Amino acid sequence: MERLQKVIANSGYTSRRKAEELIQSGKVKVNGVTIYELGTKVNTTDLIEIDGNILQKEEQKVYFLLYKPRGVVTTTNDDKNRKTVVDLIDTQMRIYPVGRLDYDTTGILLLTNDGVLANALMHPKNNIDKVYIAKVKGLVGKEQINQLQNGVIIDNIKSSRAQARIKKYDKKTNTSIVELTIHEGKNHQVKKMFEAIGYPVLKLKRERISFLDLTGLKSGEYRMLSPKEVKKLYFEISKEK
Ligand code: URA
Repeated sequence: MERLQKVIANSGYTSRRKAEELIQSGKVKVNGVTIYELGTKVNTTDLIEIDGNILQKEEQKVYFLLYKPRGVVTTTNDDKNRKTVVDLIDTQMRIYPVGRLDYDTTGILLLTNDGVLANALMHPKNNIDKVYIAKVKGLVGKEQINQLQNGVIIDNIKSSRAQARIKKYDKKTNTSIVELTIHEGKNHQVKKMFEAIGYPVLKLKRERISFLDLTGLKSGEYRMLSPKEVKKLYFEISKEK
């Protein structure tokens, strides 16, 4: 439920202050009843009329950046009743995740009701960086890094070019930490890429999407994107690459 004047303003019809004036002067009806009360709350199915004209409500676009914790599913609702990423965000808006992080993967995830931006961020042709940090079993060598960069076969298709670099080795535990930057987002893509070169992923975190990272957030926390950040994302998807 939202305040009537806010819904009118969000539709782009007029400013919030003018919407308040319209309500107070008896020009606004909700479901056929004239409303004078400024605090009146309405929901998305209510019919709003101003001066006898039906208000076309354009849904306000919202953008959230979540630090996804482990043990949460990336869907809007889960048939096994597990906690979803949408459950972590306090909003009345119908938002959905941009792409997918596995149940056991942590890190940056965007959620929005802006389908245009969501699709463009996911489309490989737009070359949006998705930067992952993977802890893998085994000591990754230069040769494997080259393989990851040039593309490996997963599900019978070669992955497109990527950037990879070794961040750390641990000879004692026989593990490596590798940073992998990809532009695709197939199901379990990173895990499958490492599997293809014989290094199973033990732990996975997504650290960055384009210029957005997790600065200032703890696992499970989220924030809204600023209008400037949204504008910058639109710029990133429209760039010739
Ligand atoms: N690739 C994976 O394998 N898992 C994720 O969660 C994200 C990318």
